[in-house]
Amino acid sequence: MTDRQELLDELLDVALTAARQAGALLRDGRPEHLEVAATKSSAVDVVTEMDLAAEKLITGLIAERRPDDGMLGEEGADVTGTSGVRWIVDPLDGTVNYLYGLPAWCVSIAAELDGERVVGVVEIPARGETAHAVRGRGAQLNGRPLAVRPAPPLDQALIATGFGYLRERRAQQARVVAELLPRFRDIRRGGSAAVDLCDVAAGRLDGYWERGLNPWDYSAGVLIAEEAGARASGRTGQPPSPELTVVAPEGLFEQLQILLDELGAWHD
Ligand code: IPD
Ligand code: CA
Ligand code: CA
Ligand code: CA
Repeated sequence: MTDRQELLDELLDVALTAARQAGALLRDGRPEHLEVAATKSSAVDVVTEMDLAAEKLITGLIAERRPDDGMLGEEGADVTGTSGVRWIVDPLDGTVNYLYGLPAWCVSIAAELDGERVVGVVEIPARGETAHAVRGRGAQLNGRPLAVRPAPPLDQALIATGFGYLRERRAQQARVVAELLPRFRDIRRGGSAAVDLCDVAAGRLDGYWERGLNPWDYSAGVLIAEEAGARASGRTGQPPSPELTVVAPEGLFEQLQILLDELGAWHD
């Protein structure tokens, strides 16, 4: 086995261990009367004590096993490493679902090697599901290979999206949804971008787009969806980014991207 393959194995093991431990903490340690601890970019951008506890657990475990790696976490982790590996961590994706006791929430952990996404793990405790991918090796859900469903015609496509926390941007996102809703079979807003991306990978959704995601929302899920056969991008010709993230199987992807470009889904 080459050094690279051995390193990827190690990164996957660290990501799986951290995601499972954080998932168990979130599942078993949720206080009965969980409250919002603080708001961030807007009144609807909430954080709980459990988001913070999960990030502490994950970053502590990574720092112990891989002390020279960099880290970026939603709740503040920001470490410049020296090894060429950088971890991108969303300790709790779907905080609002978690707060209300809805099941679509997860732990999302990705690793980049020299700037390239190479490992992604999404742990979904309320479903008993762990999705993971290693670049070039495919994606799995609870040990079974993941594959996107064949692209349907647009009017038979079930497409998920999400909305950011900035109110003025939500009005623009609502206008884009209003334009697109009549063209698809239906639209879902599940409340966790990483779960949505795994659902595209598993063929439970046909496609996904969102404006305003952060790298911790999409990094692991995009790799899982790509390794399951999906295409992922930002605006036409760009990689997925906070500006726009579009994910769907070949055939549907192009149509979705053309529509989003026509509607200017990435700007106000
Ligand atoms: C949010 C979720 C949601 C998406 C938002 C994200 P958080 O992440 O992924 O589905 O629509 O854009 O910010 O705050 O629950 O980790
Ligand atoms: Ca958040
Ligand atoms: Ca998130
Ligand atoms: Ca989060």
